[in-house]
Amino acid sequence: MLAIEPSGQVLGATVHGLDLAQPLADADFVTLLQALGRHGVLRIPGQRIAPRHLRDFSRRFGPIQTGIADRFRDPEVPEVGILSNLVRDGKPIGLADAGQDWHTDMSYTATRGFVNVLYAVQVPRRDGRPLGATLFANTRAAARDLPAEVVRRLEGLTATHDFNVFWERMRRRPGSARAALTPEQRAKRPPARHPVLLPHPITGETVLYCNPGYAERIDGLDPAESASLLDYLIAHQLQAKYRYAHHWTEGDVLIWDHIGTLHNAIPDYRPDEPRLMLRCQVMAADVFDPGFQQRWLKAA
Ligand code: SIN
Repeated sequence: MLAIEPSGQVLGATVHGLDLAQPLADADFVTLLQALGRHGVLRIPGQRIAPRHLRDFSRRFGPIQTGIADRFRDPEVPEVGILSNLVRDGKPIGLADAGQDWHTDMSYTATRGFVNVLYAVQVPRRDGRPLGATLFANTRAAARDLPAEVVRRLEGLTATHDFNVFWERMRRRPGSARAALTPEQRAKRPPARHPVLLPHPITGETVLYCNPGYAERIDGLDPAESASLLDYLIAHQLQAKYRYAHHWTEGDVLIWDHIGTLHNAIPDYRPDEPRLMLRCQVMAADVFDPGFQQRWLKAA
């Protein structure tokens, strides 16, 4: 019997009674969707699954993104990406620096990201303490607390999100192996515009959709005004009161909502402290669709 145990913090809940090696019952999917809307980050502990199980579970939430970091994918299940600092035969087996600053996956595409699903295979530890936590911030709570005059100012405004913003930031870090994106690579990922205030597809609450990883500017404002408004919004949503940390255990499957949260993977481990995660990135194509809404959300 599936049960949701809230963390009691600003985000996060643990899901009990789910074995992701088995097909997910429709009633359980509805419960998970509602819990995702309410808690933003769900931990499903104690899983022993194959890449195909991760794919099949993730697919319930929408289409899985491929076409980025294609070098590091499961050879038999290409929807599953590999995040890791492990090196075999002198070659990296996964993307070593994925998500290591505050960002929202796929805010730079016209169809936004909906959820990430990560399966923890190896978790680095030092002195018995897990390292490589993933931090989250709650964009629903941040929007709710915005002063009324800021909300009025943001109404109708969009922000431009560009893949290259995060790429360049990571590239400038000491030791980065990333090369500058070529014009062809940039053309494949043109920037996208999204409203700064969005209704959440599950709860209908307003979220503040503007992350420091990809948001480049607020459209229609002069550059100085756009920069100072972006700085304000980013500082606002990253306040400690909106934050939540997930400390990993092997066998955790973590699913989080990109519209209600932003996240940051903490690289506080050394190359000899292995971290291995399998990841599916799911697009928000279905969740805004009226048919999906009617079937899975209105019925609940
Ligand atoms: C990500 O941004 O998807 C990576 C998160 C992590 O590795 O903790």
